Amino acid sequence: DTESRGERPVLGFESVPVSTADEVVVPKGYTAEVLIAWGDPVSNGPVFKQDASNTAAEQAQQWGMHNDGLVYFPFVGSQRGLLVQNNEYTDDGLLFPDGVANWNQEKTNKSLNAHGVSIIEVTKRTGFPWDRRRRRGQWDVVRPSPFARRITGMTPIEIGGPAAGDPRLVTSEDPTGRRVLGTLNNCAMGFTPWGTYLACEENFNGYFRKNGPQTLLERRYGITAAGFGYLWHTTDKRFRADEEPNEPNRFGWVVEIDPFRPQSTPVKRTALGRMKHEGAWVQEARNGRIVVYMGDDERNEYIYRYVSNLPWRVARAQGINPLDDGILYVAKFHADGTGEWLPLTPDNPRLAGWSLNDILINTRGAADAAGATMMDRPEWIDTFPRALTAIATLTNNSRRGSSPPSVNNPDGSTAAGSARPPVDAANPRAINNYGHLIRWFYRHDWTEPTFGWDVFALCGDPANPAHGSTIVGDKYGSPDGIYVDPSGRLWVQTDVSTSTINAGAYAGFGNNVMVAVDPHTRETRRFLVGPKQCEVTGVMMTPDERTMFVGIQHPGERPDDLPGDPANPKQFSAWPDGPAGGRPRSACIVITKDDGGKIGS
Ligand code: FEO
Ligand code: CA
Ligand code: CA
Ligand code: CA
Repeated sequence: DTESRGERPVLGFESVPVSTADEVVVPKGYTAEVLIAWGDPVSNGPVFKQDASNTAAEQAQQWGMHNDGLVYFPFVGSQRGLLVQNNEYTDDGLLFPDGVANWNQEKTNKSLNAHGVSIIEVTKRTGFPWDRRRRRGQWDVVRPSPFARRITGMTPIEIGGPAAGDPRLVTSEDPTGRRVLGTLNNCAMGFTPWGTYLACEENFNGYFRKNGPQTLLERRYGITAAGFGYLWHTTDKRFRADEEPNEPNRFGWVVEIDPFRPQSTPVKRTALGRMKHEGAWVQEARNGRIVVYMGDDERNEYIYRYVSNLPWRVARAQGINPLDDGILYVAKFHADGTGEWLPLTPDNPRLAGWSLNDILINTRGAADAAGATMMDRPEWIDTFPRALTAIATLTNNSRRGSSPPSVNNPDGSTAAGSARPPVDAANPRAINNYGHLIRWFYRHDWTEPTFGWDVFALCGDPANPAHGSTIVGDKYGSPDGIYVDPSGRLWVQTDVSTSTINAGAYAGFGNNVMVAVDPHTRETRRFLVGPKQCEVTGVMMTPDERTMFVGIQHPGERPDDLPGDPANPKQFSAWPDGPAGGRPRSACIVITKDDGGKIGS
């Protein structure tokens, strides 16, 4: 590939302007089409009703809401494959004809069923040049497909790895501590060399309510009385932490799914630790071991690395899942441009008294005790394989200077509460409105205990000196999704929060975007602008780089300070259905170049 030959990826498209339009904007010579949107059937199931009156049972056969990270798994190369995408969360004001009024068990079930993961089979149209309705080069969902599947907040899931069966994972409905219903708040993702998908549970805490005094563990993970406002607890005891105190411990994991075996049971892989997992990006090392990079997306949380003990092929030949047997580390970035991976193991002297399961269930507390570097909200990570370099987005931070409460002892007895984290070399802004990108690199292999690092870009508007941005080219901020394509181009997606889109510090930035970056020159060009109030998240190309799948999440989202208005769901956006539709819908779009060339070239 070009990266190995030191050639430079060239950005061959003309940058699109800032946009506040309620549409997806792509460069001249490109076409973006909606592949599937919330509520569309994943196979030959029920169709979406624009008034949102589909039942909970129907939703379980339809694409979930608010799609995020995605992976394309080739079946027949770049012509046919499985497209797997997370459905991170729901806007229950949009999920029902009457919003959250008259909440009942059916509503809880529909909301649970709109969460999780959606799997569809997709195929590139062979088309006929004389038939304009079936234009060559675009993509269709295969219906019916034996691979189409929904995994929801109610799907039986196995708990695997060292913490399976731990007493802290036992509930009244599961005395084994090895079987949980559902996966929640799957933000970003990963995939393994053995063909499985990794869905990562991020803000799982917000579904639970805890009215009594919080334990230190609950404090550290944010299990509170108010939650995020979901009403599931009113009909489902699982979400009342006062009654089921261990249920929250069964969330916050990485979930492995085999998309090629539709009957298989997904497994929560506890060796990867428990946190607000943004994603899990797998890189194979020279000796065949796997390295998994993970961010914990909250202000002043950490970046983690997992290394399997065995080469993945050897482990699998012995019947060991490579994600069950390995060592978890957390990153410390030194001011001199070096860094180290601190092992989160019982033999780390700073974790004296911690068992492995203490560490895996309270990974945040273990990382506090180990002395890791608090980061500005770690989001996605990807790798430049030949350059032995990883790159991560740190989306923004309004609380550098205040730390999360710390639980440093396995019995929860010490809340160390370190000082407000000051600015440091790896997180150099006191108020980081725009976020930054950080890289780390190795000498010989991905498993080395130390690394070098640098800041790749401080985001913001490079034309505005007050921003202190080091971007070369088009402005962007709040980087979230990141993707290194096979040619080595870097794609960055933004998640400016709805209340600040094109306002305040983001005045003039327009809607959220995806930019392409030449990693050698750092030249940055705006490739895509999303519709109103959306976040752009989820991106992957087919192996031939001639198709790109991109997620558009929460178009038309209301700012936090506005209550939902079921009578006016299109107040902010009517994308993608337009005036004929009933409400905005998150969707996966497919982008092709009209001349059939590689995306970005
Ligand atoms: Fe769900 Fe950190 O984004
Ligand atoms: Ca999101
Ligand atoms: Ca994200
Ligand atoms: Ca984000």
